[in-house]
Amino acid sequence: MILLDGKKTAEQIQGEIAQVVQQRKSSGKKIPHLAAVLVGDNPASKTYVTSKVKTCEKVGFNSSLVQLASDITQSELIDQVIRLNSNPDIDGYIVQLPLPKHISERKIIEAIHPSKDVDGFHPVNVGKMALNLPGFISATPFGILQLIKRYKIPTEGKHCVVIGRSNIVGSPMSILMARNEYPGNCTVTLCHSRSKNLPEITRSADILIAAIGKTDFVTADMVKEGVVVIDVGINRVSSTETKSGYKLKGDVKFDEVSGKCAYITPVPGGVGPMTITALLQNTLLATEQLHD
Ligand code: GUN
Repeated sequence: MILLDGKKTAEQIQGEIAQVVQQRKSSGKKIPHLAAVLVGDNPASKTYVTSKVKTCEKVGFNSSLVQLASDITQSELIDQVIRLNSNPDIDGYIVQLPLPKHISERKIIEAIHPSKDVDGFHPVNVGKMALNLPGFISATPFGILQLIKRYKIPTEGKHCVVIGRSNIVGSPMSILMARNEYPGNCTVTLCHSRSKNLPEITRSADILIAAIGKTDFVTADMVKEGVVVIDVGINRVSSTETKSGYKLKGDVKFDEVSGKCAYITPVPGGVGPMTITALLQNTLLATEQLHD
């Protein structure tokens, strides 16, 4: 079994991004600037956003954190988004999800200008991704593709089973793995909560991508020997062993599944760091497209 070390791979890519930033600095080009909008005080969202901003600093990007109260109205938030759209110093930005219930995520996402939508959530970018046109691929799927690529995992003709049909991960991942290029050229099955005979389907997977947000959902009896497992789950489970009072667990029961795998991502240290790095890559791309 080979561990797909997302932390190490992410650090490598971040080193490459830092070099590009240095080159941009010395040639007087615009330094990438990512802004993150955080509404309310969801602890997991706060952690993600802080981590995104910190990683920006690490690679030499400029970053801004826009913190807004949970009782902000939808139209006030749209005003913020419009301001970010027209701020020439901001190259890309994200609005961290989930948003409070009284705000329509769809309306907010649609207000983000596609050229600054480094999360790749705007319908224009999702459409471009589906048509294999240049645009922003959302960070988690983009990070997973790069992890597969850096480990040179063969994908052509393989059966890729994706569990979970979210707009952010499952659905785009199913499209990307079927693309006529590497990584891709898979036969893809997209499973979800209404799928019948799930273990039977997952047992036929050469590549299994678990993105359902249920701790330890994938068990050893659900996979075959030699499978490649990508665990997208970042579930907070309470723990007395850590200072924070919680531990991160994946969607895959790592202890029993890993023994059957050719490759598997750990949680933490697998997909998570790759997601943040992919966001930085999208931001660099946005800067190049807007300013070079
Ligand atoms: N919430 C969970 N994942 C993400 C992400 O990739 N981007 C944003 N904006 N919110 C999220």
